[in-house]
Amino acid sequence: MTTLQGPPAVSDLKLLQGQKALVTGANSGIGKATAIALGRAGADVVVNYVSDRPSAEAVVKEIEGHGVRTYAHQADVSREDQVVDMVSAMVDRLGTIDILVANAGLQRDAPTVEMTLADWEKVLSVNLTGQFLCAREAVKEFRRRGVVPEVSRAAGKVICVSSVHQIIPWAGHVNYASSKGGVAMMMQTMAQELAPEKIRVNAIAPGAIRTPINRDAWDTEDARTALLELIPYGRIGDPQDIANAAVVLASDLCDYVVGTTLYVDGGMTLFPGFATGG
Ligand code: BGC
Repeated sequence: MTTLQGPPAVSDLKLLQGQKALVTGANSGIGKATAIALGRAGADVVVNYVSDRPSAEAVVKEIEGHGVRTYAHQADVSREDQVVDMVSAMVDRLGTIDILVANAGLQRDAPTVEMTLADWEKVLSVNLTGQFLCAREAVKEFRRRGVVPEVSRAAGKVICVSSVHQIIPWAGHVNYASSKGGVAMMMQTMAQELAPEKIRVNAIAPGAIRTPINRDAWDTEDARTALLELIPYGRIGDPQDIANAAVVLASDLCDYVVGTTLYVDGGMTLFPGFATGG
């Protein structure tokens, strides 16, 4: 269960009524919270996962509770054939796609000289090539269908889930940081290319969000203390923080937002070391 904290979730506003969304890597962490929030906001949702079907089915169950259509689809986003099949199955089953949240991503950390080519390529292929393939297939359908004014002012929305590490260098994570730097330029380039067709491409750059990908950074007292030094706002992020941002960014409330990265990071990108130094 995703825990909701603070004010009512923005998804209760039904900002995405009647839209069809695909969320990759939606069986855990940020993807899971986002898929549930999109469903709660009225969208039909495809829950992509690569392994662990039961966890994806649990997300589907939770989304069903919001009265929208949803199903789980297994696909490795770095495999072209699987991505092509996933999007075409979605068009068959739900009729079209309006929103892609390209979220699937992973880390395989090592100092540069110890990093294997396999780990370099794995991270680049999922985090960067995977987003490219999913976006390319979604955009083909956006373009075929065009704008349906009763549904949205845009012909389609792509949200790339990036990271603060698209601009913050990260020792020991050269593959991951490079993949997210790549996502930033991919997103802007696609946004520039596709805006004339009323396709909005944007990114969300999460900071430290409490999910399985960074468990080592928050699951002991010492780790939490060190992590909080990097977060001016004084708390570790919750997946719901990103999910709320995704709902608003995908909705027509942000119809004029094109090619932007929304940092949702508690101020991690504000160079907190300079608050007292420099
Ligand atoms: C990484 C996390 C990290 C966070 C802040 C994210 O993109 O996946 O492991 O905690 O950035 O450094």
